[in-house]
Amino acid sequence: MLDLEKFSISILELFPAEFARDVSHKLTEWGIFPFTSTKTSQQNLRTQLGNISLENPLGIPAGLDKNGSSIKGLFKTGISFLEVGTVTPYPQPGNARPRLFRISSSHELVNRLGLNNEGAEVIQKKLKKWSYGGIIGLSMGHNKTSKDPIQDFLHVLTKCGSFADYLALNISCPNINVHFDLSEPANLSLLLTKLATRQKDLNLQKPVFLKLSPDYEHKRLEEIVSVSIEEGVDGFIATNSTTSRPNSNNPTYKEEGGLTGPFLFESSTRTLAHVYAQTKGNVPIIGVGGITTPENAYTKIKAGASALQIYTALCYQGTGLIKEICEGVSLFLQQDGFSNISEAVGMEYQQWLA
Ligand SMILES: Cc1cc2nc3c(=O)[nH]c(=O)nc-3n(C[C@H](O)[C@H](O)[C@H](O)COP(=O)(O)O)c2cc1C
Repeated sequence: MLDLEKFSISILELFPAEFARDVSHKLTEWGIFPFTSTKTSQQNLRTQLGNISLENPLGIPAGLDKNGSSIKGLFKTGISFLEVGTVTPYPQPGNARPRLFRISSSHELVNRLGLNNEGAEVIQKKLKKWSYGGIIGLSMGHNKTSKDPIQDFLHVLTKCGSFADYLALNISCPNINVHFDLSEPANLSLLLTKLATRQKDLNLQKPVFLKLSPDYEHKRLEEIVSVSIEEGVDGFIATNSTTSRPNSNNPTYKEEGGLTGPFLFESSTRTLAHVYAQTKGNVPIIGVGGITTPENAYTKIKAGASALQIYTALCYQGTGLIKEICEGVSLFLQQDGFSNISEAVGMEYQQWLA
């Protein structure tokens, strides 16, 4: 990690987690942070997410730039794609604070932010200004008080869809009360049908990625994947945060919300491998959850991920980790005799099928 960044992280760790997060967001929005640009360009890391070409497999998932305020700064870290949001039709404040908690000993976070964001109208204007050509995903969701969640997704698509390269459907947020469960196959099917129709009406053809929970029972996961494929979903994101917890006396694990970081690695990678197996490797999957090193990033690729996203580890290790992972994975590919990352995708998925 860059020394200055290491120093800043250690200072920010003295403050409550959400305050530290807000400060680093503002620094990124103002172009002060990251302190230096860390782009890398290894030919063997070029990868495809369906029709989308990526310079390298590393991206930042939904939740870090909820409002599309820091797009330019975040691309300086060397990522090849950024998922903005989750965006809901109308602004919402999210849950009461405190709602973001560090578990510093294990480099994890628990959050129950509750999809706080500035709403589709405001975020549309920010996305409109982005013209640098970096790949943008639009994470879409519904308002907490929505009476018609499907209509909410259509609203966000209509407002912001044309400014994104792909659409991510967040049906797996553990921090929104579910009165209408979109992971229920009949509801999911309706959502996907209506989205496809609205895309046609708007003359859009944006690839749709479904973001999965690591907590689905096996049968439910299989049903979700089957329905999604039938309805023409283009890919999956595996996974969101988990509501399960390790065996530990640390009181922070008792906080309600989604846990992210190392504990999530195993369940998210199992989910990834199951989806890879069910779709026979024919559908691109973004692997996310607990990536902290080049080694475990490479493991996710071999479990079936065509691209990766990383969040919690950046909060603890800094953005220099993006370059470190790119360089490390590039080296592993060479050592294993692969000329391109696509040759390694899914090579070891069977090891993750329990
Ligand atoms: C503070 C925080 C906020 C998040 N907000 C969202 C969100 O708005 N939408 C979403 O789909 N995922 C959200 N996530 C989940 C991440 O996108 C990602 O799936 C998860 O953090 C696992 O990756 P990691 O272990 O590298 O952090 C959030 C995660 C964190 C830590």
